[in-house]
Amino acid sequence: MSLMGFLDRVADVSAFDKAIEPARSAVQKGLKPAVKDLLHGTWLGHPLHPVLVQVPVGSWVSAGILDAVPRLRPAATVLIGTGVAAAVPAALSGAADWSEQGTGVRRLGALHAVLNTAALGLYVGSLVARGKGRDGLGRLLSYGGLGLAGGSAAIGGHMSYAQSSGASHAATAVRALSTDWIDLGPLDDLPEGRPTMRSGKGGSMAVPLAVVRRGGRVDVFVAACSHLSGPLDEGVVETVRGSDCLVCPWHGSAFDLDDGQPRRGPAANPQEKLEVRMEAGRVMARVPSRHR
Ligand code: FES
Repeated sequence: MSLMGFLDRVADVSAFDKAIEPARSAVQKGLKPAVKDLLHGTWLGHPLHPVLVQVPVGSWVSAGILDAVPRLRPAATVLIGTGVAAAVPAALSGAADWSEQGTGVRRLGALHAVLNTAALGLYVGSLVARGKGRDGLGRLLSYGGLGLAGGSAAIGGHMSYAQSSGASHAATAVRALSTDWIDLGPLDDLPEGRPTMRSGKGGSMAVPLAVVRRGGRVDVFVAACSHLSGPLDEGVVETVRGSDCLVCPWHGSAFDLDDGQPRRGPAANPQEKLEVRMEAGRVMARVPSRHR
């Protein structure tokens, strides 16, 4: 069985859930909504976790290289300390994202967290050993930490690429649309101030769209929420942090009607918005040029 096949098997093990659910609920209750949005990267319009993990991963890999050269070992110790300090915010942002993911991602994410915690423990032990002049033990512990962190990074990659944990589900959906203008029907048929479902032509199937009318203005989004594909056409329009937003019915992410940027998480990616024009009282929409 390939490593990735093994990870998929792990993601199927429901016995893990008994231990995972209390941890998930502790994360959800322990982090205030504003802090969670900060950690998700909602303010950035991009998931924050992959940005933050660059520092510990980069520091620890570099330390491993410097440790192989005797005269550079003091610099390796500085990098290990940098990685240990940077691992804390990286872990917090990962925990915030993990607590809002689907079942399979949560199971693999728990394994990812256990390995990262063990790696962090080895690096802290390495710093202690180096501080006491036991440099050989310090190097042994840090190389052990690097091995665990590397294995954990492979799991994180699987969660991102095979399980789409941080990917925009809206970007996937918009690519299925044809690039032609789509006729969404008469403006007068759209209800005021609440989303309604229309569909756009895709290659082999219709793609659901969420359409919101505000007076003479119409905003059209891919209906699959960027977070986990929740149906935005079943959501509501609310003012969130001063902006009129389309709010997802699944986890409450709020997307600015004007530009699709997330104003409230857990979504960190923007919502795909279509270009709109009126033609003889009918609403026409098409995918933005970056997807054509
Ligand atoms: S699917 Fe999670 S907020 Fe929309």
